Amino acid sequence: MTTTDAARAPETDADQQVSTTAGGRGEWWRSAVIYQVYPRSFADGDGDGMGDLPGITARLPHLAELGVDALWLSPFYTSPQLDAGYDVADYRDVDPRFGVLADADALIARAHELGLRVVVDLVPNHTSWEHAWFRAALAAGPGSPERARYLFRDGRGEHGELPPTSWRSVFGGPAWTRTTEPDGTPGQWYLHLFDSSQPDLDWSNPEVVREFQDVLRFWLDRGVDGFRVDVAHGLVKADGLPEWDAETEMITGTLAGQHGESRTPPPMWDQEGVHEVYRAWRAVLDEYEGDRMLVAEAWVDPVERLARYVRPDEMHQAFNFGYLVSPLDAAALKAQVEETSRAMAAVGAPPTWVLSNHDVVRHTTRFGLSTAGGNPDGLAAGDDQPDPAVGLQRARAATLLMLALPGSAYVYQGEELGLPDGVVPDDARQDPTWERTGHEVNGRDGCRVPVPWEGDAPSFGFGPTAASWLPQPAVYGELALDRQRDVPGSTYEMYRAALRLRRELALGSSPGLDWTDLDGAAEVEGGVLAFRSSGALVVANLGGEPVRLPDGAEVLLVSGELGHDGEARLLPPTTTAWLRGPAATA
Ligand code: NOJ
Repeated sequence: MTTTDAARAPETDADQQVSTTAGGRGEWWRSAVIYQVYPRSFADGDGDGMGDLPGITARLPHLAELGVDALWLSPFYTSPQLDAGYDVADYRDVDPRFGVLADADALIARAHELGLRVVVDLVPNHTSWEHAWFRAALAAGPGSPERARYLFRDGRGEHGELPPTSWRSVFGGPAWTRTTEPDGTPGQWYLHLFDSSQPDLDWSNPEVVREFQDVLRFWLDRGVDGFRVDVAHGLVKADGLPEWDAETEMITGTLAGQHGESRTPPPMWDQEGVHEVYRAWRAVLDEYEGDRMLVAEAWVDPVERLARYVRPDEMHQAFNFGYLVSPLDAAALKAQVEETSRAMAAVGAPPTWVLSNHDVVRHTTRFGLSTAGGNPDGLAAGDDQPDPAVGLQRARAATLLMLALPGSAYVYQGEELGLPDGVVPDDARQDPTWERTGHEVNGRDGCRVPVPWEGDAPSFGFGPTAASWLPQPAVYGELALDRQRDVPGSTYEMYRAALRLRRELALGSSPGLDWTDLDGAAEVEGGVLAFRSSGALVVANLGGEPVRLPDGAEVLLVSGELGHDGEARLLPPTTTAWLRGPAATA
């Protein structure tokens, strides 16, 4: 039996700093369930087929009813939307497609009334090419202070016709684009780790540093409870932008691991300098009342490197992508839980758990594919299609396992309905990856299809009209919220019950979990995960044979149907149960 001190800060210097900086505040984020809202696809208030802030505000009671603690909003700022809003042209305003600034204020106020915290997205690695700074940089020419906010470089070759390095964009193609100078001649190149419409900022420039501290304050003053930091491991590049000709992967399931004998990270990821940025941001947040938080989107490997982002004077949480890409296998998941819990406890941070987001194939679909996990590249009509029933059964089992773990968990909009990815026709695809890879990579549109609220309404209640910026599959009608609410056993009611019990049992703030063996369970093929936490016994049967549940224990929640063998209750394969009772607490 192993004990993991997952959510408890260790008794070290780090512990003291945690409690000092927390100053007796609630530290709600340590155990919070945070629901990701993708504004384009959550709820459309005005019927133009694109979600918006008034639409979200009107649907906030759904999140309160579901029982989450907070929502995280993907970007809603002014943007040409060439990467769905992760290309920001003005960090202090709302894109007209989503509303106006007063709509953001109204959303924050309504969420707070409902007891929900609000985390907003911050995109500091790059701006949009429509940002005033980038326009000024192009107009000002080489050597100007305007250019020094970005990473402009002369090209190689006799006439500067070759890019400065071989770095490649995460979205495919080169990471450099050549400009035309104000006098019309071919000019310098600028770096973009993502789309060419997303020029990277130069974080060695103090003006950039000051600007983002100011943007933090802008939103903190408006009452937000935290920030999800986009590409948190990418802001600072290695000095001199050294050559790197391997793939620049990020959202493909390959974490930015350490390379070569020196075990150093690639020059664009996980550089030491990023930590200075986050220490300064932490100091800004700590000036504010309340319990504001920072969560890192950092695809780094191994988990000890990730833990460095959540040291006591840096961020509060980091997404656990190692868990997300893990196969649904008992040994693999147990290793993830143990390694993450250990690494996070060593710095006094809570572990986090996540199965889906706007960048990956939804877990209902992933687990329905023959590959059963990992991080596949979208879905095309001609690909092997998932088995929907298998996918949903596995997704429900995986969800009940995740929501029982100590720490904080992230839920992506629509997973509470068991939504699969939509299969988006090629001519409707919008992810820049599709074009940048010459149609080789399907991209992330499938997980971004608008959410169904009412089975019989146009656009399934996404908005007041039939318009939807990505086509919704027919099955979304069957899975709409109104088809599942108050229906015993529905995925929606399972999530609701799980979130209520998680709170009642204080599973998220449990100081740790104790792995346990059930009689005979250890021998079941594919494995069984069983642990006790906060007085509950959690059993995830990921093997191929039923598992006998302890006699006398009360079954609180189960992701499928229990079987019976005489008096004994059997947990079928691919099913998770939460129990309590004499046998569970003995
Ligand atoms: C990570 C975001 O989650 C993704 O959607 C975006 O495309 C990239 N960062 C670039 O901002």
